Amino acid sequence: PNGDLKDTLARPLHDLRISVTDRCNFRCVYCMPKEVFGKDYEYLPHSSLLSFEEITRIAKIFLSHGVKKIRLTGGEPLLRKNIEDLVAMLAEVRTTDGTPPDLTLTTNGSLLKKKAQSLKQAGLNRVTVSLDSLDDAIFKRMNDVDFAVSDVLSGIDAAHQAGLGPIKINMVVKAGVNDNEIIHMARYFKNNPHILRFIEYMDVGASNHWQSSDVITSHQIIQRLNAAGMPLHSLPANYEGETAQRWKHNNDQGEIGFISSVSNAFCKNCSRARLSTEGKLYTCLFATEGHDLRALIRSKDNHSDLLVANVIASIWQSRTDRYSELRDLKESKSQTGEKKIEMSYIGG
Ligand code: GTP
Ligand code: 5AD
Ligand code: SF4
Ligand code: SF4
Repeated sequence: PNGDLKDTLARPLHDLRISVTDRCNFRCVYCMPKEVFGKDYEYLPHSSLLSFEEITRIAKIFLSHGVKKIRLTGGEPLLRKNIEDLVAMLAEVRTTDGTPPDLTLTTNGSLLKKKAQSLKQAGLNRVTVSLDSLDDAIFKRMNDVDFAVSDVLSGIDAAHQAGLGPIKINMVVKAGVNDNEIIHMARYFKNNPHILRFIEYMDVGASNHWQSSDVITSHQIIQRLNAAGMPLHSLPANYEGETAQRWKHNNDQGEIGFISSVSNAFCKNCSRARLSTEGKLYTCLFATEGHDLRALIRSKDNHSDLLVANVIASIWQSRTDRYSELRDLKESKSQTGEKKIEMSYIGG
């Protein structure tokens, strides 16, 4: 490996997102609706999960191909037992430049108050926290487990205190459910160091009954903010392939982001690979099939890192994914009825 792998659309591999558990203590209506993820839902058995050693081995191989950023996701990643140990192991790995990767984690915030300090100590750089509303009734309706806003806010505070910033706050906007919280959220996060990002509700997985009428586009949100006296101007991207378009409040410090994967797909520069909880490699959030890396590394043949690296290289080199760009076309999987993987299985 020489760190400059390209797929069929000349996109490099820079970002590895690792799902460490398929479980979550929330039942967000757009992600793990209760009708599907009920008491009888069968999660992966422990033996199926990649161990921390296996994850670290695979991560190192990805780094040799040029990965610069590692994100831990789930499900809810903080539910994975001893997650700090994995963070500590990943804090030791190095990119091809000899620098540590940007090590980050996406969480619902419920366990942050308890874990922020230990995560920082283990070597985590920063966190992204999901928060869909500041209104308890709306938030509880969305997480569907009666979880209070104040507990997420105290998790965010704890993360800030621990030095896990700048913290990004992800708000998935679903029409008629929490879109009347857009202004409230924007005002609240305007004058603090956290970066609020509005996410267009996406048709991930096969459980959330997504309809295009549920989407509020970034453009609509910008118009609403403008009308509410919060004009914005755009900022340049931090790096090529960034998911969010960055904007800033006029006359204020506050940065605000828009993740427009429905109205303005960003596949063109997508450099993200995803490793599922059970060790399958997915080259798109909307994939239907993964590549079983666990089988490869658990094989009796004791394959070398080089062989695994070559397998990953050939998967990436044949990658053609650009689902969000094709969403509206006939070929799109929503229309053909192929079963897409769930977000809770592969992570955001
Ligand atoms: P930064 O490192 O902070 O730039 O993180 P990020 O924006 O890459 O990661 P984050 O996990 O915060 O992603 C934000 C959200 O964007 C995710 O939760 C998804 O909803 C969406 N998203 C991330 N990656 C992709 C992608 O490759 N395709 C699509 N369609 N959506 C994505
Ligand atoms: N559309 C958009 N974002 C989603 N997320 C989960 N499901 C969806 C969806 N259907 C977001 C979560 C979290 C991140 C991991 O992905 O809110 O911020
Ligand atoms: Fe859990 Fe995050 Fe999915 Fe909500 S969006 S159910 S918090 S994994
Ligand atoms: Fe990348 Fe697939 Fe998302 Fe497009 S839809 S940005 S290819 S993960």
